[in-house]
Amino acid sequence: MKIFMDTANVDEIARFVDWGVVYGVTTNPSLIAKSGRSQAEVIPEIAAMVAGPVSAEVISTDCAGMVEEARKLAKIAANVVIKVPCIPEGLKAVKILSAEGIRTNVTLVFSMSQALLAASAGATYVSPFIGRLDDIGEDGVQLVKNIVQAFKNYGITTEVIAASIRNLTHVEQVMLAGAHIATIPTKVLEQMIQHPLTDKGLAQFLQDYANSQK
Ligand code: G3P
Repeated sequence: MKIFMDTANVDEIARFVDWGVVYGVTTNPSLIAKSGRSQAEVIPEIAAMVAGPVSAEVISTDCAGMVEEARKLAKIAANVVIKVPCIPEGLKAVKILSAEGIRTNVTLVFSMSQALLAASAGATYVSPFIGRLDDIGEDGVQLVKNIVQAFKNYGITTEVIAASIRNLTHVEQVMLAGAHIATIPTKVLEQMIQHPLTDKGLAQFLQDYANSQK
């Protein structure tokens, strides 16, 4: 499972790129707003920081507008992927963009039916939002598992990005569910490295080394 960062904050991305763990990045209008910068400023910077896909989301809700925005965004860099909402106009845009060789990430996916429609329209990626499903009492991880399995059943090559990840359990469960990618917020990525026994063990090693030098 590849790790993407779910943020538009370049300082945060730089920190984890240095760890060597970040393959791609996903953004959305909320994350761009949170960064305090514009999409036009931030996407080129992010696209230069990682080798893998960088999702930039359109804000139009009609097909023509989405396609126009997408063509501009796709020109920024070869690794820019266009994030399109899972609505009828979005599917129409995905079909057009896919025929032009522009990669898409269909976002706000909450059901297997939506995932199948997105894949059928030609989506490169689908993004089921697991945390938001958990919020309404459904099982987000199970949806990821189901989509992965269904795509396997039919040889569908659209990759599944587990999105709206809120905690370590989500990360570990979507690994088991077979997600191709998890897009992880900075706070959760920070937690992934931590374990009290690592800190305790290291302190002991250093203490034993120091004692052996006396
Ligand atoms: O990648 C989608 C993600 O940003 C949504 O996460 O936490 O706003 O549900 P959240």
